[in-house]
Amino acid sequence: MKVCVIGAGYVGLATGVMFAKLGHDVVCADIDRARVKLVNSGRLPFHEPPLEKELAKAVRNGLLSATTDDVSAARSAKVIFICVQTPSLPSGKIDVGPVKAASRAAARALRSADDYKVVVVKSTVVPSTTDSVVKSILERRSGRIAGRDFGLCMNPEFLQEGSALKDSMEPSRIVVGSEERRAADLLMKLYAPIKAPKVRTDLRSAEMIKYASNTFLATKISFANEVANMCVRFGIDSDAVLRAAGLDPRIGPLFLKPGLGFGGSCLPKDVKALRDKAKREGYSSKLLSALLAINEQQPLEGVRLLEEALGGLKGKRVAVLGLAFKGGVDDIRETRAVPLITQLLAKGAKVVAFDPMAMPNFIKVMPTIEYSSSAAECLKGADGCIIQADWPEFRRLGKKDFSRMRTPVVVDGRRCLDPEAVARAGGRYLGIGYGRSPG
Ligand SMILES: NC(=O)c1ccc[n+]([C@@H]2O[C@H](COP(=O)([O-])OP(=O)(O)OC[C@H]3O[C@@H](n4cnc5c(N)ncnc54)[C@H](O)[C@@H]3O)[C@@H](O)[C@H]2O)c1
Repeated sequence: MKVCVIGAGYVGLATGVMFAKLGHDVVCADIDRARVKLVNSGRLPFHEPPLEKELAKAVRNGLLSATTDDVSAARSAKVIFICVQTPSLPSGKIDVGPVKAASRAAARALRSADDYKVVVVKSTVVPSTTDSVVKSILERRSGRIAGRDFGLCMNPEFLQEGSALKDSMEPSRIVVGSEERRAADLLMKLYAPIKAPKVRTDLRSAEMIKYASNTFLATKISFANEVANMCVRFGIDSDAVLRAAGLDPRIGPLFLKPGLGFGGSCLPKDVKALRDKAKREGYSSKLLSALLAINEQQPLEGVRLLEEALGGLKGKRVAVLGLAFKGGVDDIRETRAVPLITQLLAKGAKVVAFDPMAMPNFIKVMPTIEYSSSAAECLKGADGCIIQADWPEFRRLGKKDFSRMRTPVVVDGRRCLDPEAVARAGGRYLGIGYGRSPG
């Protein structure tokens, strides 16, 4: 089948590569010329090695190409996926501008189409966006009627950065929302080879499933952080507590890990967007406000631990390891490194930072701090260190590296290091939620 993907970002390229791997003919359309050129040379505009390998193969085999001509790409396709970004506006509301622009391109393709096509919204949009904003643009601009002349589906995406292709090929579930059977059947046919529970529903429920899922994950993280913040004050190690709590199948172990808070392109934005939407419909969500407030203060917990251990931060050299919103990616959207470093600087510390992949992106946001060429180099002469993202290579730091610090105090902001290993390597370990009972 011919597939068009509008928006060649994480979701668009993972979707495109997945359908190319399944043997479909994919064209990815993007407004960013440089990105289109890169994709056509088999390379990704972000760090996601397994996806890049399969992208290169798909491009070589002629199953995937990219273009800036969205209308032609959509015109030649049977199924048109809208995968553009939906960033937060200052109010928390999502900016549907890119979705509207992609819908206009799809509408132009529908206007001159002589076959039945299905438009699929994959971008995360608040309930009612697809059946109001997208549908009205498609109908008004194409002169065609949804359900009769073309199909419309909402198909939320659940992939995680760092495992984008695997999550696309082996998803926990596939959700297809539609008001008409024909469109949903066609989309389900496209997904037929993917083994996963498949949920058919209406457009608004599909939109809400994504928000219910992401706000639950965010709640779980903020809950783990609350427990950890209490544990550290009680002299208890939250790791053991949360691990044992997570063994209850009603709770589950995943995302029940404390840290410096959640970031990334999805969780903070989705929680804010749902809260804003609920407010506009007359419901004020206390839970969503609370979990966002916890998330805002959580990076400060890492600063507090270091400040206490060093007896103040003024004039202290602090190494921050990991700048991306998590280890393994170069995405810095909503990374907790920004509030963390801002607070360190406000307290008079001198910050030196390192990230294996995200530095080129981060330098644009914080150009004035010092950067190092390696984690070991970053530790040299530092009074303290905060692990902000859980890159596996940080776990390999040893005695030689910590002994280059002036005072080897390590705040593990992601609970990714072994406290004993840090101690054996000559470092003093402090972690989020890491308390030890006296004696
Ligand atoms: N990144 C994730 O982990 C993830 C996971 C699940 C869902 N989502 C959701 O999927 C959507 C896309 O997210 P993303 O991270 O892939 O975004 P992204 O920012 O990585 O990519 C979006 C792409 O769309 C392009 N674009 C913007 N307007 C366009 C237009 N009019 N025509 C063609 N291209 C256009 C941009 O140039 C960019 O390349 C968002 O709604 C997001 O919330 C993201």
